[in-house]
Amino acid sequence: MTHAIPAQDSFLDPKDAFSDPLHHKTYLVDGQLKAWNGPMADVFSPIRTLENGAETPVYLGSAPDLKKEQGMEALAAARKAYDNGRGAWPTMPAADRIAAMEKFIDRMVEQRELVVKLLMWEICKRKKDAVKEFTRTVEYLRETVVEYKKLHREGSHISNVEGTLAQIRRGPLGVVLCLGPYNYPLNETFCVLLPAILMGNTAVFKPAKYGVLLITPLLEAFRECFPPGVVNIVFGRGRELAAPIMQSGHVDVLALIGNSKSSNALISQHPKPNRVRQVLGLEAKNPAIILPDADLDLAVKQCVSGAWSYNGQRCTALKVIYVHKYVRAEFLEKFAAATDRLRAGLPFSDADITPLPERGKVEAMQAYVDEAIEMGAKVINAKGGQTAGAIFFPAILFPVSRAAAIFREEQFGPVCPVIEFEDIEEVMADIAESDYGQQASVFSQNPEAMGKVIDQLVNQVCRVNLNASCQRGPDALPFTGRKDSAVATLSVRAALRSFSIRTIVACSEGRKDMLEGVVSGRHSTFSSMDYLL
Ligand code: G3H
Repeated sequence: MTHAIPAQDSFLDPKDAFSDPLHHKTYLVDGQLKAWNGPMADVFSPIRTLENGAETPVYLGSAPDLKKEQGMEALAAARKAYDNGRGAWPTMPAADRIAAMEKFIDRMVEQRELVVKLLMWEICKRKKDAVKEFTRTVEYLRETVVEYKKLHREGSHISNVEGTLAQIRRGPLGVVLCLGPYNYPLNETFCVLLPAILMGNTAVFKPAKYGVLLITPLLEAFRECFPPGVVNIVFGRGRELAAPIMQSGHVDVLALIGNSKSSNALISQHPKPNRVRQVLGLEAKNPAIILPDADLDLAVKQCVSGAWSYNGQRCTALKVIYVHKYVRAEFLEKFAAATDRLRAGLPFSDADITPLPERGKVEAMQAYVDEAIEMGAKVINAKGGQTAGAIFFPAILFPVSRAAAIFREEQFGPVCPVIEFEDIEEVMADIAESDYGQQASVFSQNPEAMGKVIDQLVNQVCRVNLNASCQRGPDALPFTGRKDSAVATLSVRAALRSFSIRTIVACSEGRKDMLEGVVSGRHSTFSSMDYLL
């Protein structure tokens, strides 16, 4: 491997090392922050120091390495709080659940500085993106409250359907096991966990493998704002904690943002897998398709941000680029030049390319490159594949064999294959063959050509981006995928629906006295006409 990225940009000066390692020794179960005196897992930053040729990852602290018993204790607490739907939380008036959630959001905001700092140190999200992740999450949660009120108002209505009076509300599903990803350790977990809670479910939440410490400043807020057992937070390895929880058969919803291998393995361990509602955000291989009449400068700009933002570690990243043979040479030249202008460095300096958090990731990226080269590809950009510590400078590969792993697999990192095409049918055939179906980006200045491609793509993926890279936002839009890319839909509104089920209280028109009595006497929380404003 070459080492051409300046060391002063990519390694931390030892005098700047994390001054105050954080040793977090509690976990949240049944409304208590329980002290943990067992084994701890050390947490290191992807950032390294370099002294006399030796690279050392920066030490950030430690978190509990909990065992099966603590996971089961958390599950028991969540079950008790749900109590088969009769617990205080699932039966509580919606206004009270909203009050708890609003209090939590306020408490969360107080921890902003520390969480943003840990996002930079733990997963190397650059400062402006770390701030964005925090503020976007807070806005999402506030919007969730607004949407929940709307949903509740819709349920405060009785319709007469062919002589049957029916009140339809969305109710909770039960106990949720929530597992998040390392690339959006705050946003993607909170944007499923908190809508699930607001709907009346209870949860066991285990933070991702990386991005663990940044959750710890929020434990006290969870403890303070939600009744015992509603949110339980455990730290440790998935195999040790999540597997036995699933094997118990007491999980009603698996909310997992990660990959299909993990979700399939977990679902298959549940004794009654058909009973588990799945809310999954999984892998993707979003293609960019550059038609011969595309504005190449725009396409290059979008491909640079689409493929390389946060080092390509986004489920929505562009992970394969198809370019028409007429414009292939010009596109590649411009794309390579624009990529090489990116600055590699540490997250504090808002560098474009930062160290990769996953252990062994630099080697995994190198393996993709090596195999593609063996099959005839070249790294097109001069700086492609340069390394320094855990930094891997983005590598553009061309021409790439369809037999190469980088063509099929989700690389989730800074390597991108480019494929030349002559006939759009070649691209469509690949997309149809692919295991993934999240989004696609199409670049063209010709409405007729664009229209045709839109119609061919909309039944293969769930969002077609015109002259723009792929992305999840705005968060009010439905975010989902076909095939192995997702199960269920997320958005501010859709998440509330994904974590609930429609339930009806019905009676015949001729016997409406009973319903009138229940409602006017305010005898039921469900059968109420209360209108949340
Ligand atoms: O990792 C997947 C994220 O949901 C992508 O979100 O497009 O806003 O980066 P984003």
